[in-house]
Amino acid sequence: MIRSTVLPYKASRVASFLGKGSITVGRERPGSIRFDEIRCGVDKSRICSAILRQLPDWFGLEFAIGDYERKVKSQWFLAAFAEDKPVGFISIEEHNLYTSEIHVMGILGIFQGHGLGSELLRVAEAKLRMTPDKQFLMVKTLSDTHPDPHYRQTRRFYRKMGFYPLAELTALWGEENPCLLMVKTLRP
Ligand SMILES: CC(C)(COP(=O)(O)OP(=O)(O)OC[C@H]1O[C@@H](n2cnc3c(N)ncnc32)[C@H](O)[C@@H]1OP(=O)(O)O)[C@@H](O)C(=O)NCCC(=O)NCCS
Repeated sequence: MIRSTVLPYKASRVASFLGKGSITVGRERPGSIRFDEIRCGVDKSRICSAILRQLPDWFGLEFAIGDYERKVKSQWFLAAFAEDKPVGFISIEEHNLYTSEIHVMGILGIFQGHGLGSELLRVAEAKLRMTPDKQFLMVKTLSDTHPDPHYRQTRRFYRKMGFYPLAELTALWGEENPCLLMVKTLRP
């Protein structure tokens, strides 16, 4: 069954998660953004690839993009569309009954800062909370010990969304790319 809600462009805060399937946020009209849960692995991979390749300041390594393309196929995946063109997505990795992870998310440059990322995350969290035991959502990003200005914006986004720095993992991506593990609780 396809379920829909509506998100007027630049007015994301009104959307509500209505359940499984396709989600449209805002009224279906020019300027609105549609959110669809994607179930086909090939489609997930294609959307992920198209978006990440347009975000070279964050995703510049070909082997890393290839890795994302492969792994998202089996993950819960929500995409945002403007006039049927994918403009953003979030992909969630299941670690165990209690903890999930934002494996990767991205919004095309001109659509950034309009609430799409927070809406994707809000819907993903609502979906995770439907599993009663699910407690934590985590994300790995570039640490603030690295001077990259683009990932500074990314960390600001996650802090604003309620994530807290948990630990720096220098062994994971190498000393030159210190990884910051951030986490938020999904329960009050
Ligand atoms: C990070 C990202 C997913 C956020 O999505 P978005 O749609 O741009 O973010 P939103 O418009 O929902 O912003 C939500 C809040 O995050 C913060 N934020 C977002 N972008 C920011 C920026 N560039 N600088 C500072 N804070 C920012 C703001 O506080 C904002 O809240 P406000 O509008 O009330 O001030 C998106 O900008 C993106 O794709 N960035 C490049 C790729 C990336 O970093 N992916 C995540 C790594 S896996």
